[in-house]
This record gives sequence, structure tokens and C-alpha cells, in this order.
Amino acid sequence: MHGDATGWLADLESRARAVLPAPVLRYVSEGARDEVTLAEATAAWREVRLLPRVLRDVREVRLGGALLGSPTRSPLGVAPMTLQRAAHARGEVAMAEAAAVAGVPMVLSSNAGSTFADVGATGATWWLQLYMTPEREVAARLLDEAVRHGAAAVVLTVDTPVVGTRHAAPDEERVWDVADPAWVGANLPESGREPDPAGRAKAMDLAPADLGWLRERSGVPLVVKGVLRGDDAADAVQAGADGVWVSNHGGRQLDQAQATARCVGRVREAVGDRATVLVDGGVRSGLHAAVGLALGADAVLLGRPLFMALAAEGPDGVRRALGLLHDELEEAMRLAGCPDVAALRGVVDSGATGPR
Ligand code: FNR
Repeated sequence: MHGDATGWLADLESRARAVLPAPVLRYVSEGARDEVTLAEATAAWREVRLLPRVLRDVREVRLGGALLGSPTRSPLGVAPMTLQRAAHARGEVAMAEAAAVAGVPMVLSSNAGSTFADVGATGATWWLQLYMTPEREVAARLLDEAVRHGAAAVVLTVDTPVVGTRHAAPDEERVWDVADPAWVGANLPESGREPDPAGRAKAMDLAPADLGWLRERSGVPLVVKGVLRGDDAADAVQAGADGVWVSNHGGRQLDQAQATARCVGRVREAVGDRATVLVDGGVRSGLHAAVGLALGADAVLLGRPLFMALAAEGPDGVRRALGLLHDELEEAMRLAGCPDVAALRGVVDSGATGPR
């Protein structure tokens, strides 16, 4: 039996819409400026056409493997998101419990409302998402703590030298006006705890040299999140990154940035097999995930749909969403004649969109 992930995710989202406070719902759903990038994200996955293989033995299909040294049951994952405690009382801990059951990594936002210790205690494979701060030591201390509590990788987000502007009506109540202070900043020093991420200083002078330093300091794999260009991806890998995460931050940073579905192929081409390639943005079905893998990603991550699942049904909702995505991906792999994830690579009618 195969589920229809798109239908179920839409159902979870409509139930989340009924329970989330309006400013929280707005914050999760919104994109930067005119939301051009946000609007294109899912459509770009749907544009890609596959060229399935036939006459292959697909009785056994293997979705599991290892991602940056951690075993996984599916090439899927939970993208970092703040404010998960606005969706569920146990927030990131509940999300991590679901990720542990699904056997996929959970990436914890550096602005999470749950402690590293509590997330680590779920047994989930978890990675720390980090924003570099103007004083490198502040970020480094966060990193040390995370690794001490079992973070298996570090994800440095590089698409946020400043927080992208999101439009609001002049009298509109914004999420940071209503946010409970306990929803955010559980792992940040007192001085770094303004709830509004726009108010917290980010390093505007990030350079490839920071990557080598971070990689050495943490001792765990380093992923650079927010890369859309092949040349940047190659530079990041050259400077010490183990992975590159093709992302436009869910359309929340630079509006009119290219859709990730149109970038993942060129990033894979630029880094070859020297690095792990991850992708997110607008993925709403297992079939979209299959397209991401076919274009060259090693894993595909989701943000908003899992936030909505958490709000609608708690960890059970997230587990079910991940299970449906897994089943749909498995069906796509059988239909595409691919017994494992590696075989999916190149099953696209690529033209300009990716490697053949
Ligand atoms: C995010 N995202 C994000 N990224 C990051 O690196 N650090 C963060 O703290 C956050 N916080 C955050 C909050 C919320 C509510 C959303 C929706 C997104 C971006 C996120 O990791 C991811 O790149 C996108 O959400 C992926 O797109 P989809 O799956 O939401 O379409």
C-alpha cells in the first residue's frame, strides 16, 4: 500500500491552520518580499521529467544508507526551523522523537526552544544548525556544547548575512510580539537571547576560511547550507566542507533567488563525488524527493510540512508524514527501475537541469 503524501500533507496543513495562532501561522508560511521564490519552489520540482529504467529487478528496494557518517532509513530529513514549541508543547523534542522513529536526521535550529541535552536524549541522529556570529567565539561555544551532547554534524547557514525582509501590514501582529520567550534561545547565552532572529547580529564577513576553522574545531562533518551556485559549492568543499546544502531558505531570504530544483544538478556537477549534496525547498511529496535524488542530491529535507504535521498531530503526525514520503519515494524508485538511491542519480531528462 502506498500513501498519497501530497494529499496527507495538505490535510495535516489544513488542520495545523485551524490550531496555530495567526502570527505563528503567518511566520511559518511567509516568504521574503514579493514571495516569488516561495511561489516557484514546488512548481519547479513538478517541471522536471524523469526517464525511468526498465527491465531491472526491483523486488528489493533499499532506501537506507549512511549520510555524513550517520545511518539512515530514508534519504530524507528534517530541516532546521525555529519556533517548534509554538507548534507543540515539547517542540523540537517531539520533532526529534519522530525523526528517531523514522530513522532520518533532525537538524536543530541554533534558535531552538529545546536544550541540546533533551534533543540528544531522544536518541535521534541530530545535527546543529549554526549561524556564525560577529564574534566567532560565541558560535564556537554553541558548537562545542552541541557536539558534547551528541550533534553528529554541523550545518552552517550562509544565506543569512541579514534577515530578509518580509512584508507585513502596518498594524499586523508579528510573531515576535506574541512569542513566549521559552519557545526560542534555549541553548544561547543570555546576551544572545532576543527572540527576534532579525535582531540578533549575524556575521556579514563570512569567508571560506571560516569553514576550515569550524571543521577543525568541531571534529564532526560540516555542511554549508544555502548554496545555489556551482562555484560557491566548489569553493566551500575546497575550504573543508563535507557537504553542501542547496537551499534558498524556503524563499525567506533573497526573493527572486532561483528555485533549488534548478540548482541541485549544477551543484552536484561542481562538487562531483567529493561532497555530500543536500537539498530543500518546496518538497511536498516522495516523488519530489525522488526528483531531487535523480538530479544529484544524497538526501532531501523538508521544513514547513513537518512543522505543520507537528502542529496538527504532534510527533505521530511527523512520523506519519515521513512514513508517507518514504513509501511514495519507494514506489517511485520501483517505477523508475532503481533498486537503491544511487541508481536514481541521472534518471532525469536533464537538458539544462542536471547531470545525465
Ligand atoms: C526556517 N529555516 C531556517 N533555516 C535555518 O538555517 N535556520 C533556522 O533557524 C531556520 N528557521 C526557519 C523557521 C521556519 C518557520 C521556516 C519555515 C524555515 C529554513 C529551513 O531550514 C528550510 O531551508 C526551508 O524551510 C525549506 O523549505 P520548505 O520545505 O519549508 O519549503
